[in-house]
Amino acid sequence: MTRPRLYSGMQPSADSLQIGNYIGALLQWRDLQEEYQAFFSVVDLHALTQPNDPAELREKTRRTAAQYIAAGIEPSKSTLYVQSHVRAHAELAWVLSTITGFGEANRMTQFKDKSARYGADQTNVGLFTYPVLMAADILLYQTDIVPVGDDQKQHVELTRDLAERFNSRYGQTFRMPMPVIQQDTARIYDLQNPTAKMSKSAESDAGVLWMLDDPAVSAKKIMRAVTDSEGVVRYDKENKPGVSNLLVIYAALTGRQIPSIEDEYAGRGYGDFKKGLAEVVVNEFGPVRARALELLDDPAELDRVLAANADRAAEVADATLADVYAKVGLLRRG
Ligand code: AMP
Ligand code: TRP
Repeated sequence: MTRPRLYSGMQPSADSLQIGNYIGALLQWRDLQEEYQAFFSVVDLHALTQPNDPAELREKTRRTAAQYIAAGIEPSKSTLYVQSHVRAHAELAWVLSTITGFGEANRMTQFKDKSARYGADQTNVGLFTYPVLMAADILLYQTDIVPVGDDQKQHVELTRDLAERFNSRYGQTFRMPMPVIQQDTARIYDLQNPTAKMSKSAESDAGVLWMLDDPAVSAKKIMRAVTDSEGVVRYDKENKPGVSNLLVIYAALTGRQIPSIEDEYAGRGYGDFKKGLAEVVVNEFGPVRARALELLDDPAELDRVLAANADRAAEVADATLADVYAKVGLLRRG
């Protein structure tokens, strides 16, 4: 029996992913690739909606792919590729844009947030049509599930609306994808500002644990993480966001339950707890970092793996695109 399909991706927007990406996305992807026929992309076309230095964008793209692999996404098991290597993405996005209402696109809250942040001068049309390109990513692969953070839920809903519209206008073409929204317990907050999500684009580096940070740097950041004055290692997200966040990280990386960690540190101070967590983080990311750096040491080999995966992706994507082109009435090249 063929396995159901899964699609997800991340933008190559930093040199290193942060551990929120790891805990909130990569760890789940790694497990899901066993049950699903999975497609994971580095969405470099999406990254063009923000200002980029070209050489840096190339480097970030490789680095993001290397970190997927280092975190356990296996390119022999899953299809792990760079979005721009498969031309069908941009082509399907164009066709889908012609069935997307302007008002419909204008309701996307991420566009409203980002365009307000960038200002009119820095807001381009690509940022506006970004969700349509994301719909193309998903629909090209006849995807069943799309694991994403809740900020992407509205985009997956738009994807479903577009699939339904296309199917009802032109006949069954796209499979209907389901969003799988990341659980709250998988959300990681900034160590210095524990009510804000840890993010690649945080203003300050001090509260972000980078996957490729030197372990000593990560340990130092953990020792300096914001806590509270109670001195008790106890989960209470409302009143103790800092300690609760550290507990969530601890639990996610060890597979332990939070109460068992609370018990272990009962009657001990935050210093001990942070030392314990620093050890957990260093043990987890030491090997991941080493593997990523090793992959980046041989970019030709990495590029070869990505090319082979892009070929596999294109086979699926091109079939969907050909069907779409025929259905909407584009004349086939003779
Ligand atoms: P981003 O590149 O920041 O948009 O993140 C890509 C994916 O990583 C998101 O869709 C989330 O699933 C996950 N992610 C990012 N930041 C966090 C975080 N602080 N906590 C948990 N998951 C996160
Ligand atoms: N927009 C997503 C984000 O910023 C990334 C993305 C692009 C994506 N295409 C996708 C996620 C398709 C899931 C499926 O996080």
